[in-house]
Amino acid sequence: MIVRRERPADRPEILAVIRAAFRKDSEEPIEVGLTEKLFDDGYLPELSLVAVSEEQIVGYVIGTLGCIGDTEAIGVGPLAVLPEFQGQGVGQALMYALIGASEALHERVLALLGSPEYYSRFGFRAGCEVGVDSPDSTWGRHFQALQLTDGPVNGAFRYAKPFDDL
Ligand SMILES: CC(C)(COP(=O)(O)OP(=O)(O)OC[C@H]1O[C@@H](n2cnc3c(N)ncnc32)[C@H](O)[C@@H]1OP(=O)(O)O)[C@@H](O)C(=O)NCCC(=O)NCCS
Repeated sequence: MIVRRERPADRPEILAVIRAAFRKDSEEPIEVGLTEKLFDDGYLPELSLVAVSEEQIVGYVIGTLGCIGDTEAIGVGPLAVLPEFQGQGVGQALMYALIGASEALHERVLALLGSPEYYSRFGFRAGCEVGVDSPDSTWGRHFQALQLTDGPVNGAFRYAKPFDDL
């Protein structure tokens, strides 16, 4: 398996991966429409990554442009792995690639909403523990942040606009 940047031709397959990963019933998961909107608003080509196995896209993660006050900060997700490829390290490979790419871009903070049990392995901590306040106080410890090496940034995190429409 390799992790590489997304190419425009990958998009239908990316959306299919997100649909399969998040599907719970017959309804279209909200993460599909959200990702389509993020391609137009908040999109950073360096942080749109696919995991490819035998020429098939099996996982996807996107980091989009948010902010903390006047400072750029990255919102992580959706992160999705095809159900039949879950539990084999694909999500982990995508997350480490995203963190490395973000550091290379001199990004200072990554933030996300997700399971503390899963994301703590990558160094994420509850936002309140690292000085990054949640956009929604009801998210509690599920709102997490990772401060990168270029120096801490503190304040309230704001996602790219498409998240406001959820
Ligand atoms: C969450 C997800 C991206 C993880 O990707 P993956 O390739 O299956 O994960 P990895 O193989 O890298 O890691 C597997 C580990 O993560 C754990 N894990 C997977 N999903 C988890 C979750 N939702 N909460 C907590 N732990 C989780 C597994 O138990 C396993 O733990 P172990 O290493 O201690 O055995 C994938 O399961 C997925 O696409 N799920 C559906 C969509 C989703 O929930 N996305 C994340 C939104 S925050």
